[in-house]
Amino acid sequence: MSRIVFSCIAVLLAASAFAVDLTDSQRAEIEARIAPVGESCMQGDNSCGGAAAAVASSGPRSGEDVYNAACMACHSTGAGGAPKVGDVAAWAERIAKGNDALYSSGVNGVAGTGMMAKGGCMNCSDEEVHAAVDYMVVGSQ
Ligand code: HEC
Repeated sequence: MSRIVFSCIAVLLAASAFAVDLTDSQRAEIEARIAPVGESCMQGDNSCGGAAAAVASSGPRSGEDVYNAACMACHSTGAGGAPKVGDVAAWAERIAKGNDALYSSGVNGVAGTGMMAKGGCMNCSDEEVHAAVDYMVVGSQ
């Protein structure tokens, strides 16, 4: 539990330190992105523990956060043929391949497509990418 709380505090501290040099609108945007992380950690051990287990100690971000920061540009619009989150039909065959295949696509990319390794998020840990994949799959079933 203390490790979990520490992770959450670290996220908030990192965010507020980072926000110092930003404009108000950038700061508001980041705070809006960060807020759900704090809330999910407050709500109970289960959701917070899940998030803490899924991310590296250096940069704990939830799947939703990683998705919003690194995946949404393509996966909310379908840019370049990306399967849209929420498009059950587009995801059904992909989900049928199993989590390991999707994790591998998330981390390594899909050769010859716009899906580059980690969606281009080179500071995302493998675990953060896995969490983002989980978030996308849950939203697309
Ligand atoms: C620049 C656009 C772009 C970004 C950013 C992007 N993707 Fe993708 N993604 C794609 C495209 C295009 C495909 C479809 C590839 C194909 O044809 O199978 C795809 C497919 C996928 C698939 C399914 C792969 C499979 O094996 O069926 C997963 C999982 C995925 N992306 C995860 C992510 C995650 C996680 C992120 C963020 C960390 C991300 N993507 C960011 C373009 C993007």
